[in-house]
Amino acid sequence: MENKETVFNTEIDKLIDSMDLTQEPPAKEPERQYWFMKKARQLVQEKEKELGRPLRACTVTFGCQMNSRDSEKLAGVLERIGYVETEDENADFVIYNTCTVRENANQRVYGRLGYLHSLKKKNPHMMIALCGCMMQEPQVVEKLKKSYSFVNLIFGTHNIYKFAELVVSALLSDRMVIDIWKDTDKIVEDLPVERKYPFKSGVNIMFGCNNFCSYCIVPYVRGRERSRNPRDIIREIERLVADGVVEVMLLGQNVNSYGKNLEEPMTFAQLLQEVEKIEGLTRIRFMTSHPKDLSDELIEVMKNSRKICRHIHLPLQSGSSRILKLMNRRYDKEKYLDLVRKIREAMPDISLTTDIIVGFPGETEEDFLETMDVVEKVRYDSAFTFIYSKRTGTPAAVMEDQVPEDVVKDRFDRLLKKVQEIGREMSSRDTGTVQEVLVEEQNSQDPHLVTGRLSNNLLVHFPGDVSLIGQLCKVELLECKGFYYMGRKVG
Ligand code: 5AD
Ligand code: SF4
Repeated sequence: MENKETVFNTEIDKLIDSMDLTQEPPAKEPERQYWFMKKARQLVQEKEKELGRPLRACTVTFGCQMNSRDSEKLAGVLERIGYVETEDENADFVIYNTCTVRENANQRVYGRLGYLHSLKKKNPHMMIALCGCMMQEPQVVEKLKKSYSFVNLIFGTHNIYKFAELVVSALLSDRMVIDIWKDTDKIVEDLPVERKYPFKSGVNIMFGCNNFCSYCIVPYVRGRERSRNPRDIIREIERLVADGVVEVMLLGQNVNSYGKNLEEPMTFAQLLQEVEKIEGLTRIRFMTSHPKDLSDELIEVMKNSRKICRHIHLPLQSGSSRILKLMNRRYDKEKYLDLVRKIREAMPDISLTTDIIVGFPGETEEDFLETMDVVEKVRYDSAFTFIYSKRTGTPAAVMEDQVPEDVVKDRFDRLLKKVQEIGREMSSRDTGTVQEVLVEEQNSQDPHLVTGRLSNNLLVHFPGDVSLIGQLCKVELLECKGFYYMGRKVG
């Protein structure tokens, strides 16, 4: 079978080969990066000769799907440069793609850096790079400079397209290379990507965020909102489909405001209709929706679509209108519940999931009970529940009345119990029906089973072999076990 994305990477390989290293690197992107990929390849080959073995690289991803997709871009460059990918952190090049949405994400990185240091002492050739959201925080970079001087390369979220160029700098330098940008309006297309799954892929449709929810660090670390050109998005998906992808996840911090800043503005619903037309693509997902921008047009398009999955992730954050105002969410409890009513009227089989924060500054027991009330009314299939984490630089960090830890913990436990109780009931509602399942992998515990995903995002395990991976199968849902099903393939 012709494999177009590989052909695409092969085309890039040809372009890389055609670069002339005796000349200065081109100023234009992505050609400039092709030049640096060739240069890095040369440096890696020299090192391989010196060590008498191939060099191995390991990328560790923290955080959200946006970061996972970024890591696939890093992997695309690493592969072109000649590193062999490994999951073992005892490698020649280790890259941590970090998250900073909550403080514990940062703590995990510092903890693991200690471990990496011990590995590096045994392998002095080891190169360590840190990138992603956490690096956009100036106090983090200060701390790394001071106490983690064994790190070779630090870069941020805005210049990830320069990875090849940065790797060359790090390979040629014996000091820490740091390159962090505050913001950018640049989007560089046509760089290589190595996908984790052959049959599904994330696709960035926009970058950054303009919402400034008062607790959230994302707008500060991912910059202002920028939409990708729809033609570039469609071209990327067409290439993916030609390479065997049947499901795409359109990614953005707030997909519902897609297209507002394009030269020829376009709505997210219109983009979805264009994506729907791509032949060979069978499933479309998207993440994340901000309730304030979810339009009637989108609900209508989803309702009439054969390809858009029956799932909306609709972060609530709090059920109290007073707290929502302090959070700068720009909807209240009534508006949120109205929106859910409209969605459910149009698509009764929709699965709704959410994010909720407990213990936002000033949250009272009454506020918390409003959140519990929304959870009972909406009946989510599942919910990610978070304890509020103070992020330096956000407006909420300096708000008064930070809630005591024991009170937050108690509320968190009550919320989690409620969310799980309802989630179990909701998840089981399709028992006995036959549904389409996209098979994703062999079951890790029982090799006679495969694991796939329903349109509504729930997992199903059923007897089958690896030849089914990447295929859509009709499966009878025999029994719901909490948050997944056991099933049987029918035809
Ligand atoms: N504290 C706790 N949770 C947070 N989130 C974002 N910022 C914070 C914070 N400061 C949660 C929100 C968001 C999800 C990705 O992370 O619920 O939707
Ligand atoms: Fe994703 Fe936000 Fe974490 Fe960055 S800070 S990885 S955008 S969740």
